[in-house]
Amino acid sequence: MPPNPRTGEVALSDETATGFLQISDLVRDEDCRFRLHSSLYVDQDIFDLELERIFGHSWIFVAHDRMIPDPGNYLTTTLGKQPIIVSRDENGKVHVLFNRCAHRGSVVCREERGHANAFRCPYHGWVFGNDGHLIGASQRNGYPDDFLDWGLKLEPVPLVESYRGLIFANLDPDAHSLSERLNTARRYIDLWCERSPVGLLSFSEGIHRYEFPANWKLQAENGVDGYHGNYVHESFVNILERSGERKLGDTTKTRNTLGSRNFAKGLPMGDGLLEREDGMLGTFDYRGHGDYCQKLEEAYGPERADDIMMQRNIFIFPNLFLFESHIRVIHPVTVNRSYIDVHPTYLEGAGDQLNSERLSEHERFFGPSGFGAPDDIEIFVCTQSGAAATNNPWLEFSRGMHREIRNDLGETIGHSTDETPQRSLYREWLKKMATGQPPRGKHA
Ligand code: FES
Ligand SMILES: [Fe+2]
Repeated sequence: MPPNPRTGEVALSDETATGFLQISDLVRDEDCRFRLHSSLYVDQDIFDLELERIFGHSWIFVAHDRMIPDPGNYLTTTLGKQPIIVSRDENGKVHVLFNRCAHRGSVVCREERGHANAFRCPYHGWVFGNDGHLIGASQRNGYPDDFLDWGLKLEPVPLVESYRGLIFANLDPDAHSLSERLNTARRYIDLWCERSPVGLLSFSEGIHRYEFPANWKLQAENGVDGYHGNYVHESFVNILERSGERKLGDTTKTRNTLGSRNFAKGLPMGDGLLEREDGMLGTFDYRGHGDYCQKLEEAYGPERADDIMMQRNIFIFPNLFLFESHIRVIHPVTVNRSYIDVHPTYLEGAGDQLNSERLSEHERFFGPSGFGAPDDIEIFVCTQSGAAATNNPWLEFSRGMHREIRNDLGETIGHSTDETPQRSLYREWLKKMATGQPPRGKHA
């Protein structure tokens, strides 16, 4: 049954067996206790509503400026589930276009990335410039003389803005500006960019993609989950111990000690981060590279350089992660299928040697056959499977809620193993889902 378009009610069987819950009942945010209803992972109607109310009205990351550095470069991706092309025209301007032919609707570009001044539709051969305008149609005499004045084109996504090279698009033409949206997160985006001594990242290392049969939010939760490392990644911790790279006690100390510089932070608007002085599993040892540290200190000063060196996994609601070594983008497919694009970064100005070692470390943990990412994916599937058991549908996200504090920037700060960022994510989820307009068209 679809959600009621007036009330947002969805048909669910909850523990009270009423048969109906309001969207606002799906997240229970109480004193020291935070719970989530399992239907958020399994209910197709909720998923459809997420596409409308979250992906249809939020600033969604679509590409980094340096992924399409030259005129004529393009890549294809999705905005929610809608296919788009991100292209750079001959004047250097970036366009975000729906990848849908103005004739009868085929995608016009089937490549993941490349260089093209124009896109030729595979169905009947209409041709569009890389800024979206219609250049011409095959067998042109089938249309009247004023055909090119009909305004046919690859339609642009309503809003496009960027910050520090991160390009975001918004399907809602009335959305607030990106700068208002990013707000507190900008400080952390800046620190992330400044891992490069010249403040520039590039993406010459390619991408890898993984798909899994589980809900997209499981990845959103997990990337800022500092609680699971000792357990899900136990085999990797043991390998580090056996190879002499890191003592088991040092790893667990980070996770168990209060009062050190190890935080989980919930930011306004659903963002959050995990922040550790001595790093996360799978992160490169920058402090062991004196030349690099010196370059950072010269560029930014010792205090700022120290802040930059803190290891962070930053989540920008709803689909973007800035990990220390890569950008990670979440793509929802269905309620129980998602895929992730991982774009390793190259730190301009840090030298090829450091970048090469850093990429190896990235591959060792996050790569397709790495020690870390495949274990996380297994857990996403475990959680998706577990959600089918409905006797008690409530999930606990309460860890550390009793001990977190709020600072004057509006950040909520917990220990690095606390579920503070996840609570921030789901508060924003609820805000968008419960106050959104009824789905356009579908249930009118
Ligand atoms: S659908 Fe594109 S040319 Fe016909
Ligand atoms: Fe993990």
